[in-house]
Amino acid sequence: MSQLQGNTIDIPDKYKPIWEASLPLLKQGRPGDDEHAAETVANVLRFADIVPFDPDVLIPVAMLHDIGHSAILPEHFKYVTGSQKVRNGKLVHMLAGAKIARDILSAVGYPSDKSSEIVEIISMHDADQLTGLDDWRSLYDTSNKQVFHDLDSLDRYNERRLSKMVAGGYYGREQMLNELRKMLDDFFYPEFRRLAQEELQKLENIESHE
Ligand SMILES: [Fe+2]
Repeated sequence: MSQLQGNTIDIPDKYKPIWEASLPLLKQGRPGDDEHAAETVANVLRFADIVPFDPDVLIPVAMLHDIGHSAILPEHFKYVTGSQKVRNGKLVHMLAGAKIARDILSAVGYPSDKSSEIVEIISMHDADQLTGLDDWRSLYDTSNKQVFHDLDSLDRYNERRLSKMVAGGYYGREQMLNELRKMLDDFFYPEFRRLAQEELQKLENIESHE
């Protein structure tokens, strides 16, 4: 059992060493990275029977995918500049994350075939967020990549993440809701799109009662 913000997730024993090594780094990343990792692990466990994927790949990916943010310190931002700043920041967190994940997986002795796939997915998991890529969908060329894309996206459709983004001052609430509406098109699996739609409706209702 791992306790996180009042939520208890039951992590199967074989993945616990990875979670224990990841958690301190996730807490050094962006605010909420540890919660997002835990929620994504919970979603992977929850949807194991709905779509086909390899949990030995996707549970570690869920834990480790955003761990690259822990390596990006405020003083690094001066090297990530220019008109492609946001896009470059995304690339940096994926590449740094791939390296950190590789180190953690080899330190805990995780099987090397699974580790290679985990690291590969981490190195490209946010390709859909890279502006200017005409054919980003073709980069998600395995069912593990597609399922993870959808589960990672699904965790954007909740009040906790939405209020955090709005509080961060990047976007207003209505702008964020619009982004979430647009992102519904990006889901690979209709089952996950439907769940996101249901969650979006709840978020829209919260807003209309303000
Ligand atoms: Fe990411």
